[in-house]
Amino acid sequence: MPIGTPDLSHCQPFSNETNCCIINSTNIVDFKLPDKPPETLRVRPAAHLVDKEYILKYANATKLMKSLPFNHPWNFIQQANVHCAYCDGIYNQSNFPNMTLEVHGSWLFFPWHRMYLHFHEKILGKLIGDENFTLPFWNWDSAEGMEIPSMYTDANSSLFDNTRWKNHKPPNILNYGFLDGRSNNNMTRQIEANLRVMYRIMVSGAKTTELFLGGPYRAGDDESSSAGSVEIEAHSYIHLWTGDDMSSFTTSARDAIFYAHHSNIDRMWELWKGLPGGKRSSYNDTDWLDSAFLFWDENLQLVRIRVRDVVDTKMLGYVYQEVPIQWLSTPP
Ligand code: C2O
Repeated sequence: MPIGTPDLSHCQPFSNETNCCIINSTNIVDFKLPDKPPETLRVRPAAHLVDKEYILKYANATKLMKSLPFNHPWNFIQQANVHCAYCDGIYNQSNFPNMTLEVHGSWLFFPWHRMYLHFHEKILGKLIGDENFTLPFWNWDSAEGMEIPSMYTDANSSLFDNTRWKNHKPPNILNYGFLDGRSNNNMTRQIEANLRVMYRIMVSGAKTTELFLGGPYRAGDDESSSAGSVEIEAHSYIHLWTGDDMSSFTTSARDAIFYAHHSNIDRMWELWKGLPGGKRSSYNDTDWLDSAFLFWDENLQLVRIRVRDVVDTKMLGYVYQEVPIQWLSTPP
């Protein structure tokens, strides 16, 4: 049986400080895809390659989101709370009151975060009257993208977060092995080490659907611990390396860089499907395809969306800017 939508009226925040229950509504509609992809697809750009105009636009949209009344579903903290709410055991699984609902650590990881970004992006576009707006992606899988993109480093910007590690500001570069305490005093070697991790989690260690997307998590299953290769490594390390807000499920989406980080994770799913060798297609198990979640959309409507609605980014109207893939030629 697929994971069903949570009952939003039964929310159990685990502490008073972290009450991240999703705003409820009795009116829920089903998400509808168009019959075919739109003629012009929106292109999500690499964060380190965008121009000033884009940065101003994105920062302005986020600022508007941050200035909405607190109990508005589009408010930035409410948006962040949705991420907190789908982990940390805030909701039980529908029909399984003893089982908590968790979107990390299983085959739900990629599709759930794709949904989450989709609605966040559409709401930002709505706030600035630009329905073609796209989120950027943090191109941390390329040498040029391995530091915090500059748009996130301006302390006066809505895209800044002052809880990040102070010593990980540019020109410091990402360390995919952050947890094991290695330091990156040799830039060239660190970049190569990162690219080798990418090769392993995308190519040599991700030859089956389960290795990459993560394993099954069905209604009635206990918290899943079958995360895919990208979720376990690059994903988690970059959360921790970025630091404080970004380092826990409860607060990570309070840092705007979360969305660029996950946009690149989402891009990895797209790239992986196109790689040669092995069995690299998404699941066709209906327990995966029919797993369903609730989100507030850009029309201020609570919608129910299923995994099958998000398997193709083109149907959602977007693709990713094409940039060189350096890790493809960096075997371990
Ligand atoms: Cu939902 Cu990057 O975690």
